[in-house]
Amino acid sequence: MYVIVLPDGTRVGSVGHWERRWRGAQVWEMGWAVLPAYQGRGLATAAVLAAAAEARARRTHRFAHAYPSVDNPASNAVCRRVGFTLLGPTDFEYPPGQLMRANDWRLDLTGND
Ligand SMILES: CC(C)(COP(=O)(O)OP(=O)(O)OC[C@H]1O[C@@H](n2cnc3c(N)ncnc32)[C@H](O)[C@@H]1OP(=O)(O)O)[C@@H](O)C(=O)NCCC(=O)NCCS
Repeated sequence: MYVIVLPDGTRVGSVGHWERRWRGAQVWEMGWAVLPAYQGRGLATAAVLAAAAEARARRTHRFAHAYPSVDNPASNAVCRRVGFTLLGPTDFEYPPGQLMRANDWRLDLTGND
Protein backbone atom coordinates (compact mmCIF):
# COMPACT_ATOMS: atom_id res chain seq x y z
CA MET A 1 0.00 0.00 0.00
CA TYR A 2 1.12 3.55 -0.73
CA VAL A 3 0.02 6.89 0.67
CA ILE A 4 -1.02 9.45 -1.96
CA VAL A 5 0.89 12.62 -1.09
CA LEU A 6 0.51 16.07 -2.71
CA PRO A 7 3.67 18.03 -3.61
CA ASP A 8 3.17 20.12 -0.44
CA GLY A 9 3.21 16.96 1.70
CA THR A 10 -0.55 16.71 2.35
CA ARG A 11 -1.64 13.07 2.66
CA VAL A 12 -4.84 12.66 0.65
CA GLY A 13 -5.45 8.95 0.19
CA SER A 14 -4.05 5.51 -0.43
CA VAL A 15 -3.55 3.05 -3.25
CA GLY A 16 -2.09 -0.41 -3.39
CA HIS A 17 -1.86 -3.85 -4.86
CA TRP A 18 -1.65 -7.23 -3.23
CA GLU A 19 -1.70 -10.82 -4.40
CA ARG A 20 -4.81 -12.98 -4.44
CA ARG A 21 -6.05 -16.13 -6.09
CA TRP A 22 -8.85 -15.46 -8.58
CA ARG A 23 -10.53 -18.09 -10.71
CA GLY A 24 -7.59 -20.47 -10.38
CA ALA A 25 -4.82 -17.97 -11.10
CA GLN A 26 -2.55 -15.76 -9.02
CA VAL A 27 -3.28 -12.07 -9.77
CA TRP A 28 -2.76 -8.62 -8.34
CA GLU A 29 -5.78 -7.06 -6.67
CA MET A 30 -5.80 -3.26 -6.53
CA GLY A 31 -7.63 -0.89 -4.22
CA TRP A 32 -7.73 2.88 -3.68
CA ALA A 33 -9.33 5.76 -1.76
CA VAL A 34 -9.05 9.56 -1.89
CA LEU A 35 -10.31 11.85 0.90
CA PRO A 36 -13.57 13.62 -0.10
CA ALA A 37 -12.02 17.12 -0.10
CA TYR A 38 -9.52 16.05 -2.76
CA GLN A 39 -11.77 14.02 -5.05
CA GLY A 40 -12.64 14.94 -8.63
CA ARG A 41 -9.22 16.23 -9.71
CA GLY A 42 -7.72 13.09 -11.20
CA LEU A 43 -5.72 12.02 -8.15
CA ALA A 44 -7.10 8.47 -7.96
CA THR A 45 -6.50 7.95 -11.68
CA ALA A 46 -2.89 9.16 -11.42
CA ALA A 47 -2.24 7.10 -8.29
CA VAL A 48 -3.68 3.89 -9.76
CA LEU A 49 -1.62 4.37 -12.93
CA ALA A 50 1.51 4.72 -10.81
CA ALA A 51 0.69 1.66 -8.68
CA ALA A 52 -0.08 -0.39 -11.80
CA ALA A 53 3.29 0.61 -13.27
CA GLU A 54 4.96 -0.58 -10.07
CA ALA A 55 3.12 -3.93 -10.27
CA ARG A 56 4.05 -4.23 -13.96
CA ALA A 57 7.73 -3.68 -13.15
CA ARG A 58 7.71 -6.69 -10.82
CA ARG A 59 6.88 -8.99 -13.75
CA THR A 60 5.27 -11.55 -11.43
CA HIS A 61 1.61 -11.63 -12.56
CA ARG A 62 0.09 -10.68 -15.90
CA PHE A 63 -3.24 -9.34 -14.64
CA ALA A 64 -4.38 -6.81 -12.05
CA HIS A 65 -8.03 -6.90 -10.98
CA ALA A 66 -10.24 -4.44 -9.14
CA TYR A 67 -13.67 -5.20 -7.71
CA PRO A 68 -15.61 -1.97 -7.08
CA SER A 69 -19.21 -2.31 -6.00
CA VAL A 70 -21.64 -2.04 -8.91
CA ASP A 71 -23.07 0.93 -6.92
CA ASN A 72 -19.78 2.87 -6.85
CA PRO A 73 -19.77 5.02 -10.02
CA ALA A 74 -16.61 6.93 -9.05
CA SER A 75 -14.52 3.82 -8.56
CA ASN A 76 -15.87 2.17 -11.70
CA ALA A 77 -14.95 5.37 -13.58
CA VAL A 78 -11.41 5.16 -12.21
CA CYS A 79 -11.12 1.62 -13.62
CA ARG A 80 -12.34 2.79 -17.02
CA ARG A 81 -10.02 5.82 -17.05
CA VAL A 82 -6.97 3.73 -16.12
CA GLY A 83 -7.68 1.25 -18.92
CA PHE A 84 -9.10 -1.76 -17.10
CA THR A 85 -11.48 -3.98 -19.10
CA LEU A 86 -14.87 -4.73 -17.57
CA LEU A 87 -15.31 -8.50 -17.41
CA GLY A 88 -18.73 -8.24 -15.76
CA PRO A 89 -20.51 -8.36 -12.41
CA THR A 90 -19.62 -10.99 -9.86
CA ASP A 91 -20.33 -11.90 -6.24
CA PHE A 92 -17.34 -10.76 -4.22
CA GLU A 93 -16.68 -11.45 -0.56
CA TYR A 94 -16.13 -8.11 1.23
CA PRO A 95 -15.87 -7.65 4.10
CA PRO A 96 -15.01 -11.27 5.01
CA GLY A 97 -18.19 -13.27 5.47
CA GLN A 98 -20.35 -10.89 3.43
CA LEU A 99 -21.11 -11.12 -0.27
CA MET A 100 -21.36 -7.91 -2.32
CA ARG A 101 -22.21 -7.37 -5.97
CA ALA A 102 -19.06 -6.05 -7.61
CA ASN A 103 -17.72 -5.48 -11.07
CA ASP A 104 -14.69 -7.55 -12.04
CA TRP A 105 -12.30 -5.21 -13.88
CA ARG A 106 -9.04 -6.53 -15.32
CA LEU A 107 -5.90 -4.75 -16.45
CA ASP A 108 -3.41 -6.62 -18.63
CA LEU A 109 -0.01 -5.45 -17.38
CA THR A 110 1.61 -6.63 -20.60
CA GLY A 111 -0.54 -4.06 -22.41
CA ASN A 112 -2.46 -6.61 -24.49
CA ASP A 113 -6.00 -5.79 -23.31
C1 LIG B 1 -13.23 6.24 -6.03
C2 LIG B 1 -12.36 7.45 -5.62
C3 LIG B 1 -11.02 6.94 -5.14
C4 LIG B 1 -12.18 8.36 -6.86
O1 LIG B 1 -11.20 9.35 -6.53
P1 LIG B 1 -10.98 10.68 -7.39
O2 LIG B 1 -9.62 11.20 -7.09
O3 LIG B 1 -12.12 11.59 -7.20
O4 LIG B 1 -11.03 10.12 -8.90
P2 LIG B 1 -10.57 10.91 -10.21
O5 LIG B 1 -10.62 12.38 -9.96
O6 LIG B 1 -9.30 10.31 -10.68
O7 LIG B 1 -11.76 10.58 -11.21
C5 LIG B 1 -11.77 9.42 -11.97
C6 LIG B 1 -13.08 9.31 -12.67
O8 LIG B 1 -14.16 9.17 -11.71
C7 LIG B 1 -15.20 10.05 -12.02
N1 LIG B 1 -15.91 10.35 -10.79
C8 LIG B 1 -15.38 10.90 -9.68
N2 LIG B 1 -16.34 11.01 -8.73
C9 LIG B 1 -17.48 10.53 -9.29
C10 LIG B 1 -18.81 10.36 -8.82
N3 LIG B 1 -19.13 10.69 -7.57
N4 LIG B 1 -19.72 9.83 -9.66
C11 LIG B 1 -19.38 9.46 -10.92
N5 LIG B 1 -18.13 9.58 -11.42
C12 LIG B 1 -17.21 10.10 -10.60
C13 LIG B 1 -14.49 11.22 -12.64
O9 LIG B 1 -15.38 12.01 -13.41
C14 LIG B 1 -13.45 10.53 -13.50
O10 LIG B 1 -14.02 9.99 -14.67
P3 LIG B 1 -13.90 10.74 -16.07
O11 LIG B 1 -12.46 11.01 -16.28
O12 LIG B 1 -14.45 9.73 -17.02
O13 LIG B 1 -14.71 11.97 -15.93
C15 LIG B 1 -13.03 8.25 -4.49
O14 LIG B 1 -14.33 8.62 -4.90
C16 LIG B 1 -13.11 7.50 -3.18
O15 LIG B 1 -12.14 7.47 -2.43
N6 LIG B 1 -14.27 6.92 -2.86
C17 LIG B 1 -14.44 6.21 -1.62
C18 LIG B 1 -13.57 4.96 -1.49
C19 LIG B 1 -13.79 3.96 -2.60
O16 LIG B 1 -14.89 3.82 -3.11
N7 LIG B 1 -12.72 3.23 -2.95
C20 LIG B 1 -12.77 2.23 -4.00
C21 LIG B 1 -13.24 0.91 -3.50
S1 LIG B 1 -13.12 -0.28 -4.83
